[in-house]
Amino acid sequence: MKNESKIILGDCLKKMKEIKTNSFDHCITDPPYNISNYSGKKKIGWYDSNPTWKDDKKFVKIDEKWDSFTDDDYFNFTMEWMNEIFRIVKPNGNILIFGTYHNIYKIGYILSKEDKRIINSIIWYKRNAFPNITLRMLCESTEQIIWSVNNTNKKAKNWIFNYKEMKELTHNKKQMRNMWDIPMTSISEKRFGKHPSQKPVEVIERLVKGCTNKNQKIIDPFSGSGTVPLVCALNKRQYLGIEKDKEYHKISVNRLKNLK
Ligand SMILES: C[S@@+](CC[C@H](N)C(=O)[O-])C[C@H]1O[C@@H](n2cnc3c(N)ncnc32)[C@H](O)[C@@H]1O
Repeated sequence: MKNESKIILGDCLKKMKEIKTNSFDHCITDPPYNISNYSGKKKIGWYDSNPTWKDDKKFVKIDEKWDSFTDDDYFNFTMEWMNEIFRIVKPNGNILIFGTYHNIYKIGYILSKEDKRIINSIIWYKRNAFPNITLRMLCESTEQIIWSVNNTNKKAKNWIFNYKEMKELTHNKKQMRNMWDIPMTSISEKRFGKHPSQKPVEVIERLVKGCTNKNQKIIDPFSGSGTVPLVCALNKRQYLGIEKDKEYHKISVNRLKNLK
């Protein structure tokens, strides 16, 4: 089979419209979470109150234009890209979407509204997550990944789950559970440039090995620094990454070039 893997620069809402229906086996993606919409809407006093947090970079707040929407715009944006994914991914293909409490319920709501079969909600536990500096709440140390199948609850069947390979990846060779204790992305994985929400290879590798097969085609419409494409390449899967930021696109292309 001809391998047409690539990472393209552009807006996925436009680029996905050019992609044929049912042309990808699966989607693994990490969309904007809409956690950068602090300024204007809400004034966060604690962040400005202690210069060591921001000036000494003890605490890095995600503050990215691509991650800032009004609530309504975020919901419409999420609906729009998810509907394109439902069209592009083949029936019964796996759709794995990252999020935190900020956005994951909206994603879950859209999946339920579209009657998509949800298989698992995976909890990624980051034992070395940044401490909470407001002292007003628990320290947020998890992200979630909703694993759904591109079909209705009644019709979903034969989705890919490589049970034995997942078992091999556990430390005690027992069933893989849905709570993954994996540290945040290491500095060494960021040697081609920094992305504020780069995912660790180990987390993506579990999704690729567990929920896709060799030579299958995987789309990531928000590929960032290219972790999903990289892991696909390492594991002989085909991929299409879409990233709209030039710098992040460059990092991802360099990571792929330097695979060896
Ligand atoms: C959460 S990050 C993904 C990080 C990625 N998983 C990694 O390991 O590097 C989301 C990415 O989506 C990109 N993005 C946001 N809106 C986009 C759009 N409409 N089309 C394409 N990319 C977009 C952002 O520039 C950002 O790099």
